[in-house]
Amino acid sequence: MASHIIGPVAEFPADTHRVVKIRNIEIGVFNVNGTFYALPNVCPHQFGPLCEGSVNGTMACNADTGWNYTWVRDGEILTCPWHGWEFDIPTGRALARSKVRIRTYPVTIEDGQVIVTL
Ligand code: FES
Repeated sequence: MASHIIGPVAEFPADTHRVVKIRNIEIGVFNVNGTFYALPNVCPHQFGPLCEGSVNGTMACNADTGWNYTWVRDGEILTCPWHGWEFDIPTGRALARSKVRIRTYPVTIEDGQVIVTL
């Protein structure tokens, strides 16, 4: 594994994301309310450009929401632009398919630079 500086923190404002290229690998870098995450830009469904999708929340209906349909996790859910599969950005897990998970890459901030480790 090697660390790669991908740019200053100022180029990744809160609640934005963009795709960068590291050693010919496309990586989506996400700033979710000040916490950084990195995911591969490949969807496990049919290899679509996952990280070019939109970031939103999702609907939930469980004990935490009082069994009412409620919008939750705003800014933490990535939707693939091809067929709409949704992924949890912090963990890489697919929301509707519990056995599907994409890898996540460690992201650190050092001296004002965003660093992704592949
Ligand atoms: S390629 Fe991503 S949902 Fe189909």
